[in-house]
Amino acid sequence: MSIPVSDKKHTPSELRARKGGVPIVCLTAYTAPMARLLDATADLLLVGDSLAMVVYGLDSTLPVTLDIMIAHGAAVVRGARRSCVIVDMPFGTYQENPAQAFHNAARIMRETGCAGVKLEGGEVMAETVRFLVERGIPVLGHIGLQPQSVNALGGFRAQGRNEIEAARVIADAHAVADAGAFALVVEGTAEPVARRLSGEVAVPTIGIGASPACDGQILVTEDMLGIFGEFQPKFVKRYAELGGAIQQAVASYAEDVRARRFPGPEHTYGLAPAKRPAPATQES
Ligand code: KIV
Repeated sequence: MSIPVSDKKHTPSELRARKGGVPIVCLTAYTAPMARLLDATADLLLVGDSLAMVVYGLDSTLPVTLDIMIAHGAAVVRGARRSCVIVDMPFGTYQENPAQAFHNAARIMRETGCAGVKLEGGEVMAETVRFLVERGIPVLGHIGLQPQSVNALGGFRAQGRNEIEAARVIADAHAVADAGAFALVVEGTAEPVARRLSGEVAVPTIGIGASPACDGQILVTEDMLGIFGEFQPKFVKRYAELGGAIQQAVASYAEDVRARRFPGPEHTYGLAPAKRPAPATQES
C-alpha cells in the first residue's frame, strides 16, 4: 500500500514537525527538468554540492563556488512546486565566521528563492547555525561524514565506528539541533550511532549511509537511477539502470543517422505554401 502524498508545499518548519512520523523523502536535484520529475514525490530537494562530481566531473566538492550553487539552486526552484528546496553552502563560504555565513546564505536565499541552506559541521559550526536561524535563515545541518572535510578526515570513510568518534558524532548532532537546525543530514555513520542520535535529538534526522531509524532518507538521484559512475557506495540502492538505457537509446540514434533513417518525413519541414497575390482594386 502506498502512503498518500500531500499536494501542499513543504516548508522547513513543517518538515521539522514530522519528527518520528512518516519518513521524509529527500533527493538531490541540480536542474529544472530533474526537479520537475522529482517534485511530485520528494518532500525535500537538495541542491547538493555533490554536483561537483555528478555534473562537473570533479574529484571532490571543494572547488564548487557560490555562483555555481546559486545558478543550479535557482533552476531547481523554478522546477519545483511542492518540494522544499534547500541549497548547499559551498566550502569556504561559511566557515570563517557567522557574519560571512549570513552574507553568503542571504545571497543564496535572495538569488534562488530556496527555502533554506545546508552546511556541514557539528559543534564547531553550532554558533554559526544559531546566528543564521536567529536571523531568519532555515538551516539543514550535516554531520557524520562531511565531504568538504575529506582532506582532514583522510578520505571518504564511515564515521562513528569507534567510541571516540561515536561520542563526537553524537555531540555534533546535539550541538547543531540545539542551535536551531530544522533537521540534520547524517551521512556515512555507523548504524547504532545514527540510531541512537536519531532517538535523542528533537529534530528529524535524514540518513545517507546511516540508519533506517532516521526520520528520513536522502540519496543522490543519479546514483539511485544508475546514471552516475562505476563506483557505487555501499549505501546506494539502485532503483533503475538509466545509464544503460541512455547508452542503448544513443546507439539506436547513431544507427538511424548512419543509415539515413533519421530524420523521417515527420521530423522535417516542407516549404511554406505560396501566398496568393491580393486581388487588384479598380483604382490601381
Ligand atoms: O551534496 C550532497 O548531495 C549531499 C547529500 C549527499 C546529503 O550533501
